[in-house]
Amino acid sequence: MKILYAASEAAPFAKSGGLADVAGALPKALVRDGIDARVVMPLYGDLKFKDTLTYVTNFSVPVGWRSQYCGLFKAERDGVVFYFIDNEYYFKRSGLYGFYDDGERFAFFSRAILEMLFYTDFEPDIINCNDWQTALTPVYLNLYYRHLDKFSRIKTVFTIHNIAYQGKYGLDILEDTCGIGARDAHVVEYDGCANFMKGAIECADKVTTVSPTYAQEILDPWFSHGLDGLLRQKQYKLCGILNGIDVDVFNPATDPDIAKNYDAETFQEGKAVCKEALQDEFGLHKDGSPVMAMVTRLVGHKGVDLVQAIAEGLLQQGIELVILGSGEAQYENFFNELCARNPGRVGVYIGFNAKLAQQIYAGADIFLMPSRSEPCGLAQMVSCRYGTIPVIRETGGLKDSIRDSGDGYGNGFTFANYNAHELYEACWRAKEGYWQKDGWPVLVKRAMECDFSWSNSAKSYEGLYNEVVNLW
Ligand code: GLC
Repeated sequence: MKILYAASEAAPFAKSGGLADVAGALPKALVRDGIDARVVMPLYGDLKFKDTLTYVTNFSVPVGWRSQYCGLFKAERDGVVFYFIDNEYYFKRSGLYGFYDDGERFAFFSRAILEMLFYTDFEPDIINCNDWQTALTPVYLNLYYRHLDKFSRIKTVFTIHNIAYQGKYGLDILEDTCGIGARDAHVVEYDGCANFMKGAIECADKVTTVSPTYAQEILDPWFSHGLDGLLRQKQYKLCGILNGIDVDVFNPATDPDIAKNYDAETFQEGKAVCKEALQDEFGLHKDGSPVMAMVTRLVGHKGVDLVQAIAEGLLQQGIELVILGSGEAQYENFFNELCARNPGRVGVYIGFNAKLAQQIYAGADIFLMPSRSEPCGLAQMVSCRYGTIPVIRETGGLKDSIRDSGDGYGNGFTFANYNAHELYEACWRAKEGYWQKDGWPVLVKRAMECDFSWSNSAKSYEGLYNEVVNLW
């Protein structure tokens, strides 16, 4: 089986979010199972490991009525072949997205993914596209390439990592920029806009999301950002597969960034050293208090408003808080101010710092993730692996990976409704649990032993790919 995994970012080459982790790890797990999975992504200006790339060829790609240069580069990493689409005008910028011409940049990318197949000897059975940046690939394939022998049997899978980002533009982008004429416009048109994600949902053979619960949730207008009507119509081809994490990368036994390495047998000693180092880093008192942490973008849908509402209450309970992230100014200001008013009790780092994030996963006792919605979420799995007990809201992948420990089997603390009182109650139970000096290590060990490796998810993808290949 041959899979071309198309994504706008993939670790370790370029990363702005969870998509990069998935695109870095899933193909690796597939290759381990004997599947020829290759990745294609843009060659960004600030791509990492650029010196490992080799030039393959160049060709031109239609963008509306124009033709644009496209270079093709290649690299191999952990047994996975990565292809890089090069066009300096589109991609040699600092940062990945957020430019005025993102629609055009990724229309180009989506088309280049198909064009490159004329110039390589790789003939995929399936192209697995991810999110709106590659959503036009199944559309172009069905509209303009199907009649060619080379493309007639290729199937497509479209994976939604977050339905909030659909690639929505005015209808005028279609003909001039995307090269989709009036006759075909209906394929990508939705609610009076050009909607790239809608086009993929229409054209792909299967649509997946990153957890079973999220696959259900997006049928509901509260979660769907307007796409629930279409998704209900296409429900027959929709399913959810929970992501894994790269357990080689996220491994407290080998992590070079933490103060002391540990595993599920030695965590009591190891985590104590890591906790002390974390408290030193943020100048926190070392009086035995539990440390509760968040590593997140500071935006509304991550539940930061709930944490804001209960922060004072948590401090009064004798909890120390550590926050790492950046985002909306209102939250950044709130946490900075909370930190200034509570020296020794609150530590705040505004920005992203991968090394410090690892130190928090290792050194904290409890990890907060009260998201309003969370397609999958990776941090709750990472925190389990590092023995830091998650407190989560029961939504999306959080619900599918974390079970309340109230029944004596779970790996965290959970609450159902998006409500600060419920979050507070869950935090309170976590804190009470922390003080039970016999019970807590049992819970930590159980959390650390949860299997969140990619091997299970990869098996589900393999099942899906087998089904898709035999569809027609
Ligand atoms: C997106 C989602 C996140 C998910 C990640 C990887 O970033 O918001 O929940 O874990 O994609 O699929």
